[in-house]
Amino acid sequence: MKTPLIAPSILSADFARLGEEVDNVLFAGADVVHFDVMDNHYVPNLTIGPLVCEALRNHGVTAPIDVHLMVKPVDRIIPDFAKAGASYITFHPEASEHIDRSLGLIKELGCKAGLVFNPATPLSYLDHVMDKLDVILLMSVNPGFGGQSFIPSTLEKLRQVRQRIDVSGADIRLEVDGGVKIDNIGEIAAAGADMFVAGSAIFNTDDYAKTIAAMREKIAK
Ligand code: DX5
Ligand code: ZN
Repeated sequence: MKTPLIAPSILSADFARLGEEVDNVLFAGADVVHFDVMDNHYVPNLTIGPLVCEALRNHGVTAPIDVHLMVKPVDRIIPDFAKAGASYITFHPEASEHIDRSLGLIKELGCKAGLVFNPATPLSYLDHVMDKLDVILLMSVNPGFGGQSFIPSTLEKLRQVRQRIDVSGADIRLEVDGGVKIDNIGEIAAAGADMFVAGSAIFNTDDYAKTIAAMREKIAK
């Protein structure tokens, strides 16, 4: 297994103090900043765009920024995020007219590329693009909001994707997003995930370092 990465979702951070919140969570031991982009079209919520990503870079954030696009269409906004300092850019296959082209665009711009699967999105979208992926993100809630409950069928889906990655021999991260908590992160890791997004489970606690350490301990078991 690759070194597990903890990626706090800043959707649950205090947006009025975003720079400070990101500094705090990275100081507390987070590996990656998960950046949720919602357009009130593909998902019923509206969040942040490339300007905020760039502002975090200008603020001095050097950790990888994992841009999770929940927007439709995707191609127009990809170059803006690459320019704004995104490290990973992932999108939902249903939101792109040309999945292969969108993945190629992300990679051409020097970012790591990934596809995101909603709970009911079939894994067949992986069939012809495994060689273009740096990350596969399985949603364990329906996208749009933080603080929802983990959908248990994700565990079986994780096992299936873990097997596909291992059989392919490709260097691909398996990321999970939604309802990840200290209580369930152990079984999520056992199912094959190696990159863990957690929003409310981290930002709704007083001691980010303690929460992240507790998560790491469960992953290691
Ligand atoms: C949901 C977002 C998630 C969200 C996770 O659409 O993609 O990243 O912030 O929040 P929690 O961890 O609270 O379920
Ligand atoms: Zn997300």
